[in-house]
Amino acid sequence: MRRVYLDHNATTPLDPRALEAMLPWLAGRPANASSAHSFGQAARAAVEEARAEVAALLGARPIEVTFTASGTEANNAVLAALGERAGSSPGHLVLSAFEHSSVRAAVARLEGRGWTVTRVSPERDGVVAPAAVEAALRPETRLVCLMLAQNELGTLQPVVEVAALCRAGGVALLCDAAQGAGKVPVEVGALGVDYLTLGAHKFYGPVGAGALWMRSGALFTAAMLGGGQERGRRSGTENVAAIAGFGAAARWARLELDERRARLGALRDRFEGRLRAATAGVSIHGVGAPRLAHTSHFAIAGVDGHDLMIRLDLAGYAVSTGSACASGAVEPSPTMRAAGYSADEAASSLRVSFGAGNDDDQVDAFLAALEREVGALRGAAVVGR
Ligand SMILES: Cc1ncc(COP(=O)(O)O)c(C=O)c1O
Repeated sequence: MRRVYLDHNATTPLDPRALEAMLPWLAGRPANASSAHSFGQAARAAVEEARAEVAALLGARPIEVTFTASGTEANNAVLAALGERAGSSPGHLVLSAFEHSSVRAAVARLEGRGWTVTRVSPERDGVVAPAAVEAALRPETRLVCLMLAQNELGTLQPVVEVAALCRAGGVALLCDAAQGAGKVPVEVGALGVDYLTLGAHKFYGPVGAGALWMRSGALFTAAMLGGGQERGRRSGTENVAAIAGFGAAARWARLELDERRARLGALRDRFEGRLRAATAGVSIHGVGAPRLAHTSHFAIAGVDGHDLMIRLDLAGYAVSTGSACASGAVEPSPTMRAAGYSADEAASSLRVSFGAGNDDDQVDAFLAALEREVGALRGAAVVGR
């Protein structure tokens, strides 16, 4: 059976051009970028070349980019640094209620250490209202966390507006751009944020490479201590292969951004148009809001999203539900609940995220499979009654 991957928000396949950049460093060449000899210098050059590419993707200066092992690590680093600096004088934090778990969990740890936290609920269209963030700010607020693109719904958040509010209030802003970078234009200067995080594997780079961009002068205390790599911001011998792949992926994401958005937006629109026409009870989420071009999130009334996802997988199509699956129990997506959807709506939702390998024929074949499996589940529900 030919399998079709439609879950590019979870991770993307490695771009062959990124693999090519990685191969010399995986094939036995010694690569400690801190060594003074020629082997070390070659590794250093590869790391710095990649840093320049990641900086170019963000409209930033290379010196402002710190490599990490993941987007998760970069988010955690900012929040841990905040806690470390505050010491025994915790302050107040604001975050959108549907931030990624790497932000939510790191904030919850600070909360356990005495910080007060305001979680701002997004509107039902999957977008946070800047006025709601403004209302949450207090004189003792130290940081606001607002992601660039929501990973489940695909909705883009009003980061520019919220950054302006933060600046006016003297509050720092962490923008988790793991789902947005490489998919929508990012200019850190225009966004006006203080910290921005991303990971390579969301745009055809390797797993194991992420980055934290920091505005020059932004406060930071390293969590990882040791050899002083990454200008002392993140000790540990650099993963040269992964970083080289990250750099190549960033380069091609920047050069091909418009073309990818246009192509995947057309695929997504074809999918949504035909889905609406063919299947009863479909509601597509975030339609009125600015969205990632390749992401479609929708509910099919009366159909369990998890059951549908499993049936589609057996039929050869990899998609995702927003459900968190912990110890065998499938829970309704916290993201959807935060945006005001009912538990039933959350349980009947599915996310499809298109990518480089997908084409019109795959979309059409997927739609046929989707209709067939929805019919089977609805039939089973009627029989079971
Ligand atoms: C919005 C968002 N932030 C952070 C992450 C974590 O990134 P990583 O997988 O690089 O740790 C993800 C990954 O799913 C994400 O979607």
